[in-house]
Amino acid sequence: MIRTPGQALVMGAGAVGCWVGGRLQAAGAQVQFVGRPSVLEDLRLLGLTLTDLDGRRTHLAPAALRLHAEVPEASRGGPDAPALVLLCVKSGATAEAAALLSLHLPPGTPVLSLQNGIGNPAVAAAAAPALQVIPGMVGFNVVRASPGHWHRGTWGTLAAEAHPALQAWLPTFAASGLPLALHADLRPVQWGKLLLNLNNPVNALSGLPLKRQLLDRDLRIVMAALIDEALAALAAHGIEPAQVASLPPRRMPQGLRLPNWLFRIVARKSLNMDDQARTSMAEDVARGRPTEIDALCGEVVRLARAAGLRAPCNEWMQERLSRPTPGRMSGREMRAALRL
Ligand SMILES: NC(=O)c1ccc[n+]([C@@H]2O[C@H](COP(=O)([O-])OP(=O)(O)OC[C@H]3O[C@@H](n4cnc5c(N)ncnc54)[C@H](OP(=O)(O)O)[C@@H]3O)[C@@H](O)[C@H]2O)c1
Repeated sequence: MIRTPGQALVMGAGAVGCWVGGRLQAAGAQVQFVGRPSVLEDLRLLGLTLTDLDGRRTHLAPAALRLHAEVPEASRGGPDAPALVLLCVKSGATAEAAALLSLHLPPGTPVLSLQNGIGNPAVAAAAAPALQVIPGMVGFNVVRASPGHWHRGTWGTLAAEAHPALQAWLPTFAASGLPLALHADLRPVQWGKLLLNLNNPVNALSGLPLKRQLLDRDLRIVMAALIDEALAALAAHGIEPAQVASLPPRRMPQGLRLPNWLFRIVARKSLNMDDQARTSMAEDVARGRPTEIDALCGEVVRLARAAGLRAPCNEWMQERLSRPTPGRMSGREMRAALRL
């Protein structure tokens, strides 16, 4: 069994939290999960099952899981003090979750934000100034397949900003099959991921699984327009986004606009995903929950405005996905609404 630097605590036992926390536990780490009562009930009854697009299946029995409805009290150096927290809540829940962590955990506890968007680590740090918040990035897609069961439907990596607290965890992440790539500055990686996440509102509005949506050229044209606006805003600020997908960021809009037959060839690697994979924003819309649109398109709109630019397609998506029921639209309807 691998030696780990201590316990990990998952704050937000959902798709990312259960997936990453479950894999770390399967690799030998001690993991505590903090989640909502309904999720914990399923885990207590059924255990935690993780599957992936490779056909790999991991099961952790109910008795092996340490589940909490609230952040467990821990004192500095105490046996239950986590050596690493994985912050895995949606953007809208970040401030509250970070404040709760700060209330119950010793000052200086490292908190790795495994959230999408750019601003979550800063929001968490502001709500919990005594903790050490570290930006992270999850490059793959996980959905809840059934109670207690999460499925990883795409490939992708795990990355974080280099921090001394993470060094000792690298062998555990590697052993879990989720090697953690460290970057001196994660911002370009976060922006590279955000460009990909601009597909989330398109996917959510289309109501289609990711693969079918990506094979619809009208929907790809909408995504290309969202990315174009983001690239213009980034260029205006001198920010060079990192390559997170198979194409360099600046070539993504061009690639997305290709005819279907050519796109299938160029994007062969990216299309290697489950037929049923969907974005987490599609899940949120399906369940009537607030979306993370402000952390994605909203971030682009703000960046553009700060440079004296406009990002009208991102503005439109931001408004639409902020509605309680955004509805469904075909690619043609979206193009017409956006005048593309
Ligand atoms: N899913 C993916 O494929 C994926 C991939 C890359 C990145 N991400 C990012 O990862 C983050 C998490 O996404 P997710 O899909 O894992 O979300 P999720 O499945 O909704 O999981 C988050 C869980 O945390 C719970 N939660 C929120 N506040 C809490 C609190 N104070 N105490 C206990 N539990 C709390 C949520 O409950 P409520 O719903 O009741 O609030 C939910 O059950 C997001 O920023 C997302 O963009 C997701």
